[in-house]
Amino acid sequence: MNARSLTGKTILVIGGSAGIGLEVARIALEQEAIVHIASRGKTRSAPTLPRAIYHTCDAKSPASLDALFQILDRVDHVAITVHESAARLGIDTTADKMNLSAAIEYSDGKFWSQYRVIQAALPHLAQDGTLTLTSGVASRVSMANHSAISAVNASIEACARQLAKELAPRRVNVVAPGVTATTTYDAMLPELKEQFVQKIASVVPLKRIAFAEEIALAYIFAMQCGYLTGTVLDASGGQLIA
Ligand SMILES: NC(=O)c1ccc[n+]([C@@H]2O[C@H](COP(=O)([O-])OP(=O)(O)OC[C@H]3O[C@@H](n4cnc5c(N)ncnc54)[C@H](OP(=O)(O)O)[C@@H]3O)[C@@H](O)[C@H]2O)c1
Repeated sequence: MNARSLTGKTILVIGGSAGIGLEVARIALEQEAIVHIASRGKTRSAPTLPRAIYHTCDAKSPASLDALFQILDRVDHVAITVHESAARLGIDTTADKMNLSAAIEYSDGKFWSQYRVIQAALPHLAQDGTLTLTSGVASRVSMANHSAISAVNASIEACARQLAKELAPRRVNVVAPGVTATTTYDAMLPELKEQFVQKIASVVPLKRIAFAEEIALAYIFAMQCGYLTGTVLDASGGQLIA
């Protein structure tokens, strides 16, 4: 086993029952890690992973998180892919129409849920362990109707930079995905979803949206690269330079 091997490491993917998190779990299992997946059990998942250990947990509940980490006891790597749907909350809008309660709910589900996971994880995290958070390309790309979404995602990146210093030698990084084909868009009408995908593909240099597996590799890299901390891994198909 070498320093970057995930073999035998205990990895928690919270938000791992679907989408990007599910692919993180799948790759970690391929690398012979011991993989725990946690989610509320609300999102209908793709095929389940037979060797993963599933837990029901709500990242909005500190008690639920504490119970999860009591079971895990010690963990080497934590990937956090939980979120709240901005589209469901209707906060992809202009400031004059913004529902602040909905924007605060988004912040709670995306930023503060990740913070709660970190707080619960710390007493159980190995000294050479990692926390990998999730933001999104909207943190830095200028997009219409994204003032609240952008601010929340940027806050995750700013927070991680502070935590990386505070928590060293444990490492803290952020993955910032671009638009990725996951269950998160299942609620959209097929026609609107196709229009949205085409619109994004037309502005991204790689001319397509991402596969979840491509984004998942960034989390695996953040776990394996022992000299990486306080960093945002941009996995946006080049949207930042579009
Ligand atoms: N897909 C994209 O285009 C895109 C773009 C930029 C950023 N991102 C970010 O990437 C991350 C993953 O997105 P995704 O598209 O893979 O999402 P997804 O397919 O909707 O999956 C989200 C996962 O999180 C779990 N989850 C949600 N809320 C939770 C909570 N409170 N506690 C525990 N588990 C919870 C869901 O399961 P349950 O519902 O069963 O709990 C599910 O396993 C999110 O942070 C998202 O904002 C995605």
